[in-house]
Amino acid sequence: MRQIKRIVILTGAGISAESGLGTFRDEGGLWAQHKIEDVATPEAFIRDPNLVHRFYNARRIQAAESKPNAAHDALARLQTGFPGEVMLVTQNVDGLHEKAGAIAIHMHGELSRALCAVCDHRWDAPPEMSVGESCPACQQPTARPDIVWFGEIPYHMEQIIEAIQTCDLFAAIGTSGQVYPAAGFVEEARMAGAATVELNLRDSDMSYAFEEQIVGPASKTVPAWVNRLLG
Ligand code: OAD
Repeated sequence: MRQIKRIVILTGAGISAESGLGTFRDEGGLWAQHKIEDVATPEAFIRDPNLVHRFYNARRIQAAESKPNAAHDALARLQTGFPGEVMLVTQNVDGLHEKAGAIAIHMHGELSRALCAVCDHRWDAPPEMSVGESCPACQQPTARPDIVWFGEIPYHMEQIIEAIQTCDLFAAIGTSGQVYPAAGFVEEARMAGAATVELNLRDSDMSYAFEEQIVGPASKTVPAWVNRLLG
């Protein structure tokens, strides 16, 4: 087995479930309560910006009130203690990796940030955004949540793919493997010869592609896995 010097970790909603934030596709999840096409597409924002803001305002407030759990803490510990590179890539927009002290690449944006739909300027979002809020750079009334919606291209893809192609170990934690491009990362990692491990409460749509599976709640499995890596 080759020596592990570079690790890429992908996280999804499952890592924040035990912090009290609902996932998208588990029973009773966000996408059972709201239709994606009503709240998570650019067309939805044009059609009913009020509804879209209400959806993300509620999530922003809930995220601000929540605390990282043992899984977030363990990944922060890995990032500082591992004698090599640990790139943390998250699909989550809740900011819990940062609250735990980690540095994460946000491929689906962040609830705490606002984006101008016209000039792409970004700034810190207020707790509640409302329709017609102006962009501080171009003054147009075109502020939106800085969230990557369906039909839009995730952020930092070049940097992420490059890291996956040169990593020795790829791990996916608490993600259902249903949303691309993140779902395809494991295959990219395998083609690059990296070891692959999935940590999830149950089988995901991509489980078959991983060499190793660790099944259980993230707050238990992630700290144990991190301890193993830190020796
Ligand atoms: P999903 O809701 O699709 O999947 C959550 C995964 O977490 C499932 O595979 C669960 O089995 C697992 N899970 C739940 N509780 C867990 C726990 N305590 N410990 C470990 N695993 C647990 O969420 P994502 O895969 O993150 O995108 O969804 C991907 C993207 O789809 C999201 O970023 C979001 C969504 O639409 C956008 O909004 C752009």
